[in-house]
Amino acid sequence: MRILGIESSCDETAAAVVTGERQILSSLVFSQIHHHQAYGGVVPEVAARAHIEHLDGLIAGALDEAGVDFGGLDGVAATAGPGLIGGVLVGLVTGKAIAAAGGLPLIAVNHLEGHMLSARLSDNVSFPYLSLLVTGGHCQLVEAAALGHYRVMGTTIDDAVGEAFDKVARLAGLGYPGGPEIERAARNGNDTRFSLPRPLKGRDGFDFSFSGLKTAVRRIVEELTPDGEIMSSRDINDIAASFQTAVADILVDRTSRAMLAFADQHPGAARLVVAGGVAANQMLRQHLADAAERHGFVLTAPPADLCTDNAAMIAWAGVERLAAGLIDGLDAPARARWPLDPAWEARA
Ligand code: KG4
Ligand code: ZN
Repeated sequence: MRILGIESSCDETAAAVVTGERQILSSLVFSQIHHHQAYGGVVPEVAARAHIEHLDGLIAGALDEAGVDFGGLDGVAATAGPGLIGGVLVGLVTGKAIAAAGGLPLIAVNHLEGHMLSARLSDNVSFPYLSLLVTGGHCQLVEAAALGHYRVMGTTIDDAVGEAFDKVARLAGLGYPGGPEIERAARNGNDTRFSLPRPLKGRDGFDFSFSGLKTAVRRIVEELTPDGEIMSSRDINDIAASFQTAVADILVDRTSRAMLAFADQHPGAARLVVAGGVAANQMLRQHLADAAERHGFVLTAPPADLCTDNAAMIAWAGVERLAAGLIDGLDAPARARWPLDPAWEARA
């Protein structure tokens, strides 16, 4: 089976071809960073236009690299949400057009499910597993019971963790996206210089909170630069390191609680998966791996380029759904919001 995947929900335009045997025949990602950098964040309208400009060429490139043409495909999987609606529409409509022209099945993929399943593409992880989903828009602990059966155990009550990285980077005068910049700066920083809060640490439940952490960083920056001076690189590095360690502590605390609950429900299935762009962070991966080991779990973290937005994970979700007979009609809607677990959303 060969599936074309299309991703356009945020600021990465991506196309990939993946097989039913977990081979990534091609995976092209065009990062729009330079389109958005001047604004310090993603501008939805700019993103949608850039997707239109680049998507056709990326699809042609992905097919070429994979050595297949449209006739050699078994299906088209496109992200149908959640995300910036203009971008989602561009990718989904393109996928529909290819499916209609080629008489191919369309799979309308939930971007979050793409992240969730990426460890099954990279490492053939079997259900059930506990997933820590950490992206620019989400921070959730999810019990993945089976394909399409996800139970959200906890979520952020304010900012997403990637969003916190991006906001703190901005406060520290670092570039966008903030995650990789913070990680780089933190390597040369002292993580004990500033004491930062760990909101919700030790509390019942599995929810997260990051906005207090961000506010604490803002206060430190204001104290260090009362007249808006530029911070020294030592200050920046120490802030980055202190922030990153605080995030690691929070993620480890909440995920450790979830591992205990998951182990009760699924004796013997001791698998933790971390997915989403923030999972590209090496320091967080190491802390989570250590926590997993303490709880008798094994951590699976897909390679960094499968954690940040890509189309291979969307194509793979398409492989899994097509194999299960879960295909969509050409009337599949584009959704700005699309919860993985509708029951959780109804409760919230
Ligand atoms: O999954 P993703 O690529 O897009 C969304 O679905 O949101 O996640 C993007 C987020 C951004 O907030 C970015 O700053 C963060 O992932 N990120 C990182 C790292 N690389 C990307 N955060 C921490 N450390 C990194 N190395
Ligand atoms: Zn994503």
